[in-house]
Amino acid sequence: MDFISSKNIFLLTRDTLKLIDREIMKHGSRTGYIFYKLLLESGGYEKFELAEWAMLGTLHDIGAYKTNLSDEFVQFELKNVMPHSVYGYLFFKYLSPMSGRSKVLLYHHLDVAKLKKTPFEYSKETELLSLAEKVDIYRMTLGEKFDLSLFEKFRDTKFSSSSLELIQRTEEKHHIFEKIDSEEFEKELDHLMDYIMFTNEEKKKYMEMLMYCLGFRSQNQVVDSVTCVCICEELAKRLFLDEKTTEKLYYGALLHDLGMLAIPSEIIDARRSLTEDETVLMRTHVGISENILKNRLDEEVLGIVLAHHERIDGSGYPQCIKENDMTLPMKILQVADTVTALINERSYKQVLGKDDAISTLRKEVSLNHFTKQIVEPMIVSYDDIMQKVNYESDEILKMNHKMEKQFHQVCEKYGM
Ligand SMILES: [Fe+2]
Ligand SMILES: [Fe+2]
Ligand SMILES: [Fe+2]
Repeated sequence: MDFISSKNIFLLTRDTLKLIDREIMKHGSRTGYIFYKLLLESGGYEKFELAEWAMLGTLHDIGAYKTNLSDEFVQFELKNVMPHSVYGYLFFKYLSPMSGRSKVLLYHHLDVAKLKKTPFEYSKETELLSLAEKVDIYRMTLGEKFDLSLFEKFRDTKFSSSSLELIQRTEEKHHIFEKIDSEEFEKELDHLMDYIMFTNEEKKKYMEMLMYCLGFRSQNQVVDSVTCVCICEELAKRLFLDEKTTEKLYYGALLHDLGMLAIPSEIIDARRSLTEDETVLMRTHVGISENILKNRLDEEVLGIVLAHHERIDGSGYPQCIKENDMTLPMKILQVADTVTALINERSYKQVLGKDDAISTLRKEVSLNHFTKQIVEPMIVSYDDIMQKVNYESDEILKMNHKMEKQFHQVCEKYGM
């Protein structure tokens, strides 16, 4: 897949999660950096492996974007550590291309004494990740008062002697804290990502993982995206789009609402019509998607994302472009997104049945918002398309249910 480079996958994932919570991502980036330097100093890793671990380090608290809710940072990292560890583990295991390393997330708050009793392939990396993140948390909480000697009290309980010696040596040699304070580390981390390498299959899975990140805010948005992707695929078949264009439409549909992660839940979940100001704010989600996607993704895919609220008569937003400036995949996503809004549950409206959905679509054609070219195949194949949509949505709901069940089971196992 040449729509996105491996390095841009890292940058895009980081910036998408930053939309949900800047502080967690800042901690993730610093931890990823310290972790990378510890592994570098310990030796034995190729550059691309260091880059992969640094990416995992940056995402180590991915579960917290879902579970921390209103918790203070220190609260979920030092007091109530299990929910974000377990959720992050399940997210990695089922919804990411890093399932093989998901246990690193599960155990990233375990003391070394306990870790030794639960040996697994990545015990060493898990201990170093745990050390990296504790160092960052203590530095952020204690400020000037922080000193590595404070970690002496954890020797052979929380951390092994060799890890404590490693961090001492790493700091002396690489001046990691100075680099963090001057924010120099970010450039270094970005540069390291020149070495990260993903296969096309992994790239696809990362793109899908980004769509699953919408679920950190609201599970309905994942169901909506899956519905929308499915309708796009079905319409693409019926409109005879070639393979390459269909693929671009797929990624456009997958990522089209990423910017919604920056919109406050009170607005997304409002059980009433939005005020004028709220509508303006809601509409900024397209520009927010543009900010994180531009220069990182194929231009055509970006164009499809940016045009998903445009209408052929120029009455859409944000650019008010007209049909002449639209490609076929853009017009397909516009219809698919609208059908999704009609048939799926929204806080402010009822689900529409087939007849009402079809008459709404016909009205949209008469208002010159959509062309018949796209709407007709949608109407003609309505039942077939809905059958596929229902299947895909059910799969998502089943996965969600499985993860919820396992979340409680794993928490119980670890005494929560
Ligand atoms: Fe954590
Ligand atoms: Fe952390
Ligand atoms: Fe949207």
